Amino acid sequence: MAETFDREYWEDRYRGHDHGKGGHPNPRLVAEVADLTPGTALDAGAGTGADAQWLAARGWTVTAVDISRAALDAARERAGDLEAGAAERITWVRADLTEEIPGGGGFDLVSSHYVHPTGGYRAFFDRLASAVAPGGTLLIVGHDPAEAHGHTGSLSESHVSAQEIASGLDPGVWEVVVAESRRREVERGGRRATMHDAVLRARRRG
Ligand SMILES: C[S@@+](CC[C@H](N)C(=O)[O-])C[C@H]1O[C@@H](n2cnc3c(N)ncnc32)[C@H](O)[C@@H]1O
Repeated sequence: MAETFDREYWEDRYRGHDHGKGGHPNPRLVAEVADLTPGTALDAGAGTGADAQWLAARGWTVTAVDISRAALDAARERAGDLEAGAAERITWVRADLTEEIPGGGGFDLVSSHYVHPTGGYRAFFDRLASAVAPGGTLLIVGHDPAEAHGHTGSLSESHVSAQEIASGLDPGVWEVVVAESRRREVERGGRRATMHDAVLRARRRG
């Protein structure tokens, strides 16, 4: 039976786990955002907060949103180690991003990593795109379909290619800067594995 990635699914996944301190930001975020001037950012599907912390430490004012309260509780705890100033630049918000964008929009950066909402991608990506300010950046990283073939052997609603994401962006409004599949090696259960990320970076024309 197909999995439903609803709130209960994510609460179950985070509840009762010790998420520890620290955590590493996504390498795609680090690579794509390093050259941007810090402003306001939406971390859409923040999980336990490593990306939001990294952004805040670099001077971004971050609205970190997740559907799971357990994830945000862990994220807040982890953020306790941030230096003064950085921690205050993060606002943690529990919300369903398929229904609303907390803060309304106008973000200089909207960043979303591996969020695959129930109900499909299109409306979700449209909503994220609408939250980017003129001149701002949309960064979406997903599980590339190549990963399903090489890793789990099955293609599910959690997979999307960068081209599919880009196809929803009006070229009159968006300049696509990056739309590609990128491989990375990870350690999983003591074994090396190859992940395939779909990376979409686009700039909203000013
Ligand atoms: C695979 S995790 C990735 C977490 C984090 N972005 C990372 O890269 O480590 C997906 C996250 O998206 C959140 N999420 C899923 N659907 C959501 C929705 N509709 N609104 C807000 N957050 C959602 C989940 O709770 C989960 O924390």
